[in-house]
Amino acid sequence: MDDKRQIAIVGPGNIGKATGLAMIQHGLGDVVFWGRDEDKLRGTKLELMSCVDGDEDFDVCVSTNPAIIAGSDVVVVTSGKPRTGNMTRADLIKENAPIIEKVGAVIAQHAPDALVILVTNPLDAMVELMNRTSGLPENKIIGMAGILDSRRFRGLLAEELGVRPHEVEGIVIGQHSDSMVPLFSSATLRGRRLDDLVAAGKMSRERLDGVKTNVASTGATILRLNGMTAYLSPAACATDIAESYLTGKAREFPASVRPRGVYGQDGDISIGVPVIVNEEGVTPFEIPLSPDEKAAFERSVADQVKQNQALDEFLSWRSLSLEDAPGEEPPFQPA
Ligand code: 2OP
Repeated sequence: MDDKRQIAIVGPGNIGKATGLAMIQHGLGDVVFWGRDEDKLRGTKLELMSCVDGDEDFDVCVSTNPAIIAGSDVVVVTSGKPRTGNMTRADLIKENAPIIEKVGAVIAQHAPDALVILVTNPLDAMVELMNRTSGLPENKIIGMAGILDSRRFRGLLAEELGVRPHEVEGIVIGQHSDSMVPLFSSATLRGRRLDDLVAAGKMSRERLDGVKTNVASTGATILRLNGMTAYLSPAACATDIAESYLTGKAREFPASVRPRGVYGQDGDISIGVPVIVNEEGVTPFEIPLSPDEKAAFERSVADQVKQNQALDEFLSWRSLSLEDAPGEEPPFQPA
């Protein structure tokens, strides 16, 4: 491929294909897919080559050889198992941790300067695993989740309030799970704070509480209604993050990153916070929280600290050789 921008997508599943289409339609660059199934890869290329007018200068390459991602500017990681049935995202950690660790090593080898956008669940734990094991800079590792939950938040608010989505603003921080934190204190309708509208009796707190519950359950609701987890919206959100990085048009997204001191969080945890994305990478920042929101965020952090214990266990076992194993079965089978 020539000196055009290149976006690598790891995993030609539903999210991967939809992301490839969005990247091409946004004209962000050539798209390469790395995967394990040659037929799925070939089928993906045949599909995507037929999606855009031949006048558009883009290319799609696919391979089972990880070197296909060499030199990519952005790598979108969608590989791993999705939720099925009544699974929680946390149920996926055992299956997906070995995959994400290996993908991180491949990115470090072939595309060390790329912005890495993780989509694989449990999202915050996979971002943290990438931070702990890949050796890639933490300002170039971001998990796509808060942007997705925030767009669900504003859509559900608009539906509840009977307005158009663009008339509502609102963001969600915290873990991409039931403990996520929709920020009502900064949410607005036509520029007016929702809290002020409640105080003025123009809106009931009960209606807003209903929206709060629905935001966290939307992922599971889509899985129940569609028989598969969301893939169009994660693809669109990942593409918007990539576009800010590749074009240098800075934008603010809630996303899972190492907070680097934001909200008092530092060290080995990755979780959803407000983030600026530009051509340099990702920079977390703070927006004011109400006392209730601060407490809810801290509960969400505690959930993530607990979930990261499974990562600690995986990482402790993986460094052992079989001779050292103390006799019981390792909890994670290497992929
Ligand atoms: C969701 O919430 C797939 O975790 C993603 O839909």
